[in-house]
Amino acid sequence: MIPLTVPTFTKDMEKAAVNALHSEMLVGGESVFRFEEEFAKYIGTDYAVAVNSGSSALLLTFYSLGVKPGDKVITPSATFIATISGSSILGGVPIFCEIGNDYLMSLESLKKFANSNYPVKYIIPVHLYGHPCNMDGIKEFAQHKGAAIVEDAAQAHGATYKARKVGCFGEAAVFSFYPTKNMTVCGDGGMITTNSNKVYESAKKMRDVGRVTKYTHDRIAYTLRLNSVNAAIGRVQLKHLDEWNEKRRTLAKRYYTELYGVGDLILPPESDANCIPVYHMYAIRTKQRNSLGAWLSINNISTSVHYPIPVHKQPACQVYQNGIDLSFTNQWSDTVLSIPIYPTLEHKNQEYVIEMIEQFYDDKLYESERMKEAGLAWGKKLV
Ligand SMILES: Cc1ncc(COP(=O)(O)O)c(C=O)c1O
Repeated sequence: MIPLTVPTFTKDMEKAAVNALHSEMLVGGESVFRFEEEFAKYIGTDYAVAVNSGSSALLLTFYSLGVKPGDKVITPSATFIATISGSSILGGVPIFCEIGNDYLMSLESLKKFANSNYPVKYIIPVHLYGHPCNMDGIKEFAQHKGAAIVEDAAQAHGATYKARKVGCFGEAAVFSFYPTKNMTVCGDGGMITTNSNKVYESAKKMRDVGRVTKYTHDRIAYTLRLNSVNAAIGRVQLKHLDEWNEKRRTLAKRYYTELYGVGDLILPPESDANCIPVYHMYAIRTKQRNSLGAWLSINNISTSVHYPIPVHKQPACQVYQNGIDLSFTNQWSDTVLSIPIYPTLEHKNQEYVIEMIEQFYDDKLYESERMKEAGLAWGKKLV
């Protein structure tokens, strides 16, 4: 089976992990602080705070920014639910906005809030699939509203907008190191990047049970730290990140060239001088999504749907309905399909994926009753 994605684990990571296990404190070891320094430098922020997941990063960020019950937080619904978890658990109210053809927060959709009397407090642009959002437009809107930007860069380590890494454009940004991401810590992990000393100091304290000294705590908080061994692996992964992202871009380029004009496929946005993506996922769209997914699965190719239920349709979000038209987001979730992309994907395997997709359309397999049924069954397994 050709997997959808494979985390890279090499000898140098193994060595770093074993070294950390032998020579560091398992929690709060040297590797954690080094990883933070190196990550902040890589993104171009003053600070970085390592935590145990991207969701924890969002929680601590919104806590540190002082989100209050009822504060409105604009975010796309075309994302993973964790985008809204941190702010919502603290009482923030997500306001779902529409995405554009690039699957990212649409400036057009934001304009609707500019004209109303919406007191927007926060904006969470999501650099979905590793594609950078139009940060100039979002920043202009945020300034107009007096809102703070928290970038969700969980899928976009190393992507750049106007030659600057995403993760440095707002009050703070969050990254995830979950094993499928462009870089991982070989387990759960996350990072906050920020230029705000307030966010930095608060997040550091709140990831550590609100500790001010060993046994003095001036806040009620949780243990949300990143373990030393994971940080040690993360440091090595970070060194490889640019080279891996380049490989992903090469693979994406081949998909663009060979899948362009095939069937009804809509390919993801390409890079331009301002936006250099890192292709966390290569997400195509087709009306025949479920049959194509089933066909590829029958032919030993893994695919997935990110995401089959947009956030505004999640059972947990029924309380947040606001009547905004999200028809394109709905259409996106019904048609989007992620196909294999990862730095070690071999040329011959990518060619096979392309061949199988071409065959699906050339032979009009979407018209066959067998594929229609297989598609229905495949679709049911998505959620
Ligand atoms: C867009 C987005 N935001 C937030 C998260 C949350 O990260 P984690 O899974 O590390 O909690 C993820 C991870 O899947 C994500 O894809």
